[in-house]
Amino acid sequence: MDYRRTLLKDLLTSPAGAEATAHGWVKTRRDSKGVSFVQLNDGSCFKDLQVVIESGSIPEDQLKHATTGAAVSFTGTMVDSPGEGQSVELKATSMTIYGEADPVTYPLQKKGATMEFLREIAHLRVRGNTFGAVTRVRNRAAAAVHNFFQNRGFYWVHTPIITASDCEGAGAMFAVSTLLHHAPDGGFVLSSKDPADDFFGKPAYLTVSGQLNVETFAMGLTNVYTFGPTFRAENSNTPRHLAEFWMIEPEMAFCDLDGDMNLAEEFVREVIQDIMDGCAPDLEFFNQRVEPELLKTLDHVVNSGFERMTYTEAVNLLVNSGETWEFPVSWGSDLQSEHERWLTEKKVGRPVILTDYPKEIKAFYMKQNEDGKTVRAMDVLVPRIGELIGGSQREDDLKKLEARIEELGLDKAAYWWYLDLRRYGSAPHAGFGLGFERLIMYVTGMKNIRDVIPFHRASGQAEF
Ligand code: 4AD
Ligand code: MG
Repeated sequence: MDYRRTLLKDLLTSPAGAEATAHGWVKTRRDSKGVSFVQLNDGSCFKDLQVVIESGSIPEDQLKHATTGAAVSFTGTMVDSPGEGQSVELKATSMTIYGEADPVTYPLQKKGATMEFLREIAHLRVRGNTFGAVTRVRNRAAAAVHNFFQNRGFYWVHTPIITASDCEGAGAMFAVSTLLHHAPDGGFVLSSKDPADDFFGKPAYLTVSGQLNVETFAMGLTNVYTFGPTFRAENSNTPRHLAEFWMIEPEMAFCDLDGDMNLAEEFVREVIQDIMDGCAPDLEFFNQRVEPELLKTLDHVVNSGFERMTYTEAVNLLVNSGETWEFPVSWGSDLQSEHERWLTEKKVGRPVILTDYPKEIKAFYMKQNEDGKTVRAMDVLVPRIGELIGGSQREDDLKKLEARIEELGLDKAAYWWYLDLRRYGSAPHAGFGLGFERLIMYVTGMKNIRDVIPFHRASGQAEF
């Protein structure tokens, strides 16, 4: 056996008359007038291969094991299919059973399973239509991300997962420590309370963002990006937050906020187009079964520019909207999902980029505007999701950055290397972070972020 077998996606386009062996997992089996029809899938494409077993061609005491979920192979001849939905099918004359799946206990039975239920069997759900499609889209999207940057001469930088600095200053970090041990009785034992005794000799965390590290590379390689896992211990049990998610963070030297927004827009549009080109059958499924109008919206996004407005303009629109908000909004307030969605869905009807937020609600590193009140920040908001991207031009003035760090009561000494970038050869630079799972939600129409990552990590959720 070899991985270079013919996969179902190739069998489905092979000519009638070809001898073939198809390996996969049984989706369904039905019998009609002595003929058995098995829908087989190996995940290589959305479509199942129909395997037809004529009466007597495979002994029933063998065929009876071809129940939903079983791992099997069929050998026979590809023939023109009289049925709807496929041009060829496999007329099988022999079969091998690799692994049975007891129809009484196999959890992934035919239809109607809820997303919540499927989440509980995340080790098996990839065999179903939805998660197969999500996984193929995710793969294509990841490749498209790299192609986008590689084609533009950006270098991929692998920033560390473990860090001692807090990028966002939002206090949502997971501590990394070897001082804490699991005792045999199941409790915890703290072997020392002194951070100096810890593995790194000081407090360390899982990174919330690779930005600070990738900035150092932009200040030498000019155009760079990170693409890796990031972690946030925020206790927000929402359909848009995970404790572990993947983030794409480009960073560009000699670039300002306008250049940053141009990149973000180009990026979103090109990556979506690439997924539409490469995953058409999967997106067709999402369009039919998950989000009506999905393809129309994606087409619209690819072909129309994003609206741009300042935070101040957005707040004025929200205040004068006549809507009743669950969270009151006025200048200075952090926009909530309901506000973001109203702006992009109701007001603008396509993606919108908000800029120049109040400095109080944004991170310390953002470039301060002349008005002394706002910073050169931008958020890209898209329908159904809200915030897809957060970015900014960075403060490149040493004095201003130091003043802001002090003003916020952050530990200036800990940022010594970050400040050095402003001390030696500082240059205007900008970048953004895009939540990869939010992009996948947007492209697939999936409603819960837990269903677009192979194994979700959220508060109370670390099974598998
Ligand atoms: O807006 P955020 O916090 O920005 C940063 O981390 C910057 N350091 C990025 C940069 O400028 N290089 O996060 C960026 C994006 C958000 O817009 C959102 O899409 C996603 O990351 N995100 C999350 N996705 C899933 N679960 C969470 N808990 C997320 N928090 C942020
Ligand atoms: Mg943000």
